[in-house]
Amino acid sequence: MENELIQILPAGSNRSERQLQPLAPAHEILFNDAATKQPFFKGKTFYIETFGCQMNVHDSEKVAGTLLAKGYRPVENYEDADLVLYNTCSIREKAAQKVFSRLGAFKKGARNRQRIIGVLGCVAQQEGERFFDRAPQVQLVCGSASYSRISELIDRLEAGEKRVTGLSLDTDECFETEITRRDNPFRAYITIIEGCDKACTYCVVPMTRGPERSRPSDKVLAEARRLVDAGYTEIQLLGQTVNSYRDPSLARLAFPELLLRIAEIPGLKRLRFTTSHPHDFTSEIVRAIENSPVLCNHIHLPLQCGSNRMLARMRRTYTREEYLEKISCIRSAKRAMSISTDIIVGFCGETEEDFEQTLSLIDAVGYDQVFSFKYSPRPNTDAGRMEDSVPEEEKGRRLITLQERQRQIQLSRNQELIGQEFEVLVEGFQSKLGQAIGRTTSNRIINFAGEAGWIGQYMNVRVTAAGPNSLVGVRAESG
Ligand code: 5AD
Ligand code: SF4
Repeated sequence: MENELIQILPAGSNRSERQLQPLAPAHEILFNDAATKQPFFKGKTFYIETFGCQMNVHDSEKVAGTLLAKGYRPVENYEDADLVLYNTCSIREKAAQKVFSRLGAFKKGARNRQRIIGVLGCVAQQEGERFFDRAPQVQLVCGSASYSRISELIDRLEAGEKRVTGLSLDTDECFETEITRRDNPFRAYITIIEGCDKACTYCVVPMTRGPERSRPSDKVLAEARRLVDAGYTEIQLLGQTVNSYRDPSLARLAFPELLLRIAEIPGLKRLRFTTSHPHDFTSEIVRAIENSPVLCNHIHLPLQCGSNRMLARMRRTYTREEYLEKISCIRSAKRAMSISTDIIVGFCGETEEDFEQTLSLIDAVGYDQVFSFKYSPRPNTDAGRMEDSVPEEEKGRRLITLQERQRQIQLSRNQELIGQEFEVLVEGFQSKLGQAIGRTTSNRIINFAGEAGWIGQYMNVRVTAAGPNSLVGVRAESG
């Protein structure tokens, strides 16, 4: 029976009930947010593959929910699907290329069943109608600002239209769905702000995701309550610039207030948010984390570059000194915080001296994690029109130098944790090693001897050894 593939848990079921569901892979666990409207299956199938950031991952969860509401059923393999969707990323050239290699599987002449192929996300928005010339097998091109129309677009294709697009960026709406098919059994995402009004010169996002628009706080709070009722103990708020949130409802909750209101929901154990922009990062956010143990003590604060000359050229709207002030505010908090960042090396005109400034800044901050990238020129960006002056080889050298330096920093920071005890949420189990994989509220991974049955539980672990990227521990007696 087809329906047996899917487990539908109405709002109100708790985590222990969820764990009792036999052999339900995470991606098949559904939450029916509407509670009254049960999805039904009319025999059509869909496959969706997602590239890129957590925003994309969550957008796909919502698109999948929309499809379930239309009566489509998910399948594991694109070959079995009547509707194949790729949710794309164009942040760097390499990411953008991935969808084209996937689409190669559907080239004309290949043995194909009748199916609809669609591209969503940033590459879809960036390429627009041109996508049909580059990949004639594609029938649907839709950017994230038009996802509210996705159901209607699919209806038009089903009714016989050959090609449809959703490309308007002129919107003040956020994508709301009645059903969200959540893939992660531990952490539920909630988008609180879509688009981006910053104008970093290297970045495609303002062009691909449209202008900034925040969801009303009452909707966010209602979604959070529903998720906790459904058994989630961890929520992550999402936005390209999550801390630029501006409540459009009459409640006018400021971002730190919203954090505290969500953190108060009984049963919620962890609340995270990403990504913060340094310009809008305030001491009130730090105070909120300090005062609520539910708010995770981890802040992702993208730096991009340590040189003022480059920061100005990137149009980041803060200086090295201002960034460091925010860091000292975080470091002065009563609860120790872990800090992570994003860095681009080899941006247009970056000299050895500029790069040295980035190295000295990462030394000064002592990050717990750094995501670092070689600058990749993007179409329709201001930097795309500047000279990409740093040779590829030099970008590579700077990346390795930065990563090696950061590895040392992480190793010594992690070694300081040996002997300390942390509460972890067990998110996985490596059966070959008999090890449970736990995550601390500060976003560190601790591996420790355990059992598969511990997945989903919180327990205390004492750190016994440290590497640059993870810790090793033993279950503490108190846990
Ligand atoms: N080239 C390289 N990295 C980029 N990022 C954004 N745009 C580019 C680009 N054109 C990085 C930034 C951002 C992260 C998500 O991706 O560091 O914070
Ligand atoms: Fe891109 Fe800058 Fe907006 Fe982040 S803040 S999404 S880097 S434009």
